[in-house]
Amino acid sequence: MTLDTDAANRTLAGLRPFPVAITTVDGGVANGLMSLSAGTASIIPEAPRAMCGLTKYNKTHDMVLNSGVFVMHMLSAGEDEVDASLNILMTLGGRSGRDGDKIGGLRTKTGVTGAPILLDAHSYVECEVVSSLDVQESTIFVGDVVASEVFSAASRIKIGEAWSKLPAEWIEQYDANHIPQLQSAKDHRFGRQN
Ligand SMILES: Cc1cc2nc3c(=O)[nH]c(=O)nc-3n(C[C@H](O)[C@H](O)[C@H](O)COP(=O)(O)O)c2cc1C
Repeated sequence: MTLDTDAANRTLAGLRPFPVAITTVDGGVANGLMSLSAGTASIIPEAPRAMCGLTKYNKTHDMVLNSGVFVMHMLSAGEDEVDASLNILMTLGGRSGRDGDKIGGLRTKTGVTGAPILLDAHSYVECEVVSSLDVQESTIFVGDVVASEVFSAASRIKIGEAWSKLPAEWIEQYDANHIPQLQSAKDHRFGRQN
C-alpha cells in the first residue's frame, strides 16, 4: 500500500497546540528556541518529567545535548501579557543563536541548573535530561523536572492564536529560515543528495 502522506499529516496536525520556549545554557552561553513538540513524560505526579524534540539544525539542540539541561516555558494568552508572549516567540523562534545573542534582550533570572528562566513567560519547568533518543534529523530529550513556577493566572496561548497575531513580515522571515532547516532534516534522514 502506498503511504498517503496527506492523510498522515492531517492525522498528526495540531496534536500539540501549545508553543513552548526552550532555554538552556552551555559553557556559560545561554540560548533558546521555540518548539511545538513539547509534552509531559511521566505519570508520577510527585516526580514530573517533560519531553521535547529538537532538530539537529538548531544551535539549542547541540547545547542541550552537551549541557543536559533545559527550561520549558509556556506562554500567556492574557490580554496584558500576550505582547510579551509574542516577543518571546519572535525573539527565540525567528533566528538562530548562531547569528547572535537572543537571550540578552529578554527579562530573565538564573535557574537552579544555571539556565535562564524567562520572567515574562506564563510558567516553566526546569529540567535535567535523563535520557535522549537520536532520531536522525532530531533528538527527543526527556528531563526530570527540578524546579517549576507559575507566574500568570491567565490561560496559555495556543499556536493558532499566536500565528493570527504575528506580523506578516516576521512570518515571511520564519518561512525563509525554515527552508534550510527542512533541507538539513532531509539530509540527515535520506542523505545529502535529496
Ligand atoms: C511555533 C514554532 C515552533 C517550532 N517548533 C520547533 C520544534 O519543535 N523543534 C525545533 O527544533 N525547532 C522548532 N522551531 C524552530 C526553532 O525555534 C528555530 O529554528 C530557532 O531559530 C532555532 O534557534 P537556535 O538555532 O538558536 O536554536 C519552531 C519555531 C516556531 C516559531
